[in-house]
Amino acid sequence: MKRVITYGTFDLLHYGHINLLRKAKKYGDYLIVALSTDAFNWEAKHKRSYFSYEQRKMLVESVRYVDLVIPEENWEQKISDLHEYHIDTFVMGDDWKGKFDFLKEEGADVIYLPRTPQVSTTQIKQNLSNIFS
Ligand code: CTP
Repeated sequence: MKRVITYGTFDLLHYGHINLLRKAKKYGDYLIVALSTDAFNWEAKHKRSYFSYEQRKMLVESVRYVDLVIPEENWEQKISDLHEYHIDTFVMGDDWKGKFDFLKEEGADVIYLPRTPQVSTTQIKQNLSNIFS
């Protein structure tokens, strides 16, 4: 069984996220999403998600391409996750292109997928704020 992992916040789940998850699943049989916790989002990325970790987890778990959701709590866990979950392929959107090439040394394939154009959580938040202000 080939195992794939991807990382992200997946707040206000949108069709760009679904495209990424659908394409990621094609690289294997079992897809793990490491979902940024609220504390990691705030402390490391200085972002506050609209939906809480538990709410985002419930949504991502409901996507048919996703087999398991685990917490992403720090930048360093990727190497231990690869070994703990016996990961073959690491997938991210190409906004992260090149950033995780060091994971190849751990024996994983590293794939950057093209982002779906013209949609992001930040954009949705801005649009909604413009509409309702
Ligand atoms: N993603 C994508 N296409 C988009 C938006 C996101 O492929 N249009 C991918 C990202 O590259 C990442 C994953 O979905 O691999 C989760 O991204 P995340 O940062 O949670 O979503 P964004 O919409 O990019 O959120 P933000 O605007 O807060 O950065």
